[in-house]
Amino acid sequence: MLVVDDEPLNVDLLEQELEAAGYATVAATGGAEALMMAGKHAPDLILLDVMMHGMDGYEACRRLKGSEATRAIPVIFLTALTETFDKVQGFAAGAVDYVSKPFETQELLARIGTHIALRREIEAHRKSKATLACLADEIRSGRAMIGASAALRRVREQIERVASTDSTVLIEGESGTGKELVARAIHDASHRRDRPLVKINCAALPRELVESELFGHEKGSFTGATQQRRGRFEIADGGTLFLDEIGELPLEAQAKLLRVLQEREFERVGGTQTLKVDVRIVAATNRDLQSQVAGSRFRPDLYFRLNVFPIRVPPLRERPEDIPQLVERFAASSSRRTGRPFTSVAPAFLERARAYHWPGNIRELENSVERALIMSNDGTLEAQHLSLEPPGLDAPAQSTPTDATLEAVERAHIRGVLARSDWRIEGERGAAALLGLNPSTLRGRMRKLGIRKTR
Ligand SMILES: Nc1ncnc2c1ncn2[C@@H]1O[C@H](COP(=O)(O)OP(=O)(O)OP(=O)(O)O)[C@@H](O)[C@H]1O
Ligand SMILES: [Mg+2]
Repeated sequence: MLVVDDEPLNVDLLEQELEAAGYATVAATGGAEALMMAGKHAPDLILLDVMMHGMDGYEACRRLKGSEATRAIPVIFLTALTETFDKVQGFAAGAVDYVSKPFETQELLARIGTHIALRREIEAHRKSKATLACLADEIRSGRAMIGASAALRRVREQIERVASTDSTVLIEGESGTGKELVARAIHDASHRRDRPLVKINCAALPRELVESELFGHEKGSFTGATQQRRGRFEIADGGTLFLDEIGELPLEAQAKLLRVLQEREFERVGGTQTLKVDVRIVAATNRDLQSQVAGSRFRPDLYFRLNVFPIRVPPLRERPEDIPQLVERFAASSSRRTGRPFTSVAPAFLERARAYHWPGNIRELENSVERALIMSNDGTLEAQHLSLEPPGLDAPAQSTPTDATLEAVERAHIRGVLARSDWRIEGERGAAALLGLNPSTLRGRMRKLGIRKTR
């Protein structure tokens, strides 16, 4: 605590009382000395006499508040009842409080306690705000889109163009191309960036819960609805709703979604109140929605509602120029994560990577780079560290190291599709359907090519 008074007796008295209450004190007997002491000791609080010879208390306070180093220290003015104290000028100079001499010790200590506690709260708040801003920056840069290819530049331009609007965006692209990254980039560049980005994975929604997930439900509206619950549309109010894998949304749910998109209003399941929300829709799909429409698996009216501003994210094989930068970034980040050293990438590694067709796109590249880093002994990524088989698979011994033969291409393609369909062979979204084969035919080819699931 810094005590400033040009009457040494007053200083002594104050210091005694403060020290008795457990505070450490330093003292000054004039304005100029007070500035010097405040800079040197960085006190938690300053008790400042108003009327002093030389620089008076108002001026000392203004200067304390004018300096970066002492600005945040609370100042309490000490005034004598016999003096005229200009409260307005005192607060304008930046003081937080004043006490009149002679003071009640208990009152003085209470005021000091309050201002010190307040200052601590303000400091803590300032620190956590700074930490949050740092974290947000880190998260944003961690998911920055890497790549300088013309194809990706075009995607970036489209993101910039559409972000500031409220238009619905439809992101199309193969699995692992970065559709989710595009959705985040749109949200982060929009005026909604400080509101939530709410994601719904339409493929993972149980059919019977779709409506309740999207719109919420009232207590008792169905068995198991023991509480009122807000749906994703409500949670996303003011922000962005990201409908991932929209092509997988069941037909009944498509009809309900269409209504919200048209009218921007809905009711909770079992509710009567109509709710209005301000939500920007971004949808993504790795299926060709147009052929889904042609095959009557997707409502044409919903397709037109969604397809306002389409962004196509090109597969990695259409932009091999991006590979070197991506490899560098992924190697550096998996080095941080795994603690394995990373020094450089051999040209032959990049050559091999550029020649591959990357059915799993950037996600597959990311995983391959991590595996390569683990295989490397000295932190250099060499061509032989790049194993281009999907993870968790036991490559048969006779498989050729290159993928130049038709058989190798077929094997890689089937594996890619299997990995994408989570190794389901049958069913509407199973690998056989995706490949246009009978399940039994696919099983036969897998046996012949030595493809088996080992995880
Ligand atoms: N341009 C890029 N720069 C850096 N990382 C990228 C880039 N594109 C994609 N990634 C990374 O690749 C991975 C896959 O991206 P993302 O999840 O966005 O793909 P997706 O298209 O949504 O795939 P899916 O259809 O399988 O859901 C993520 O880890 C993402 O951070
Ligand atoms: Mg995705």
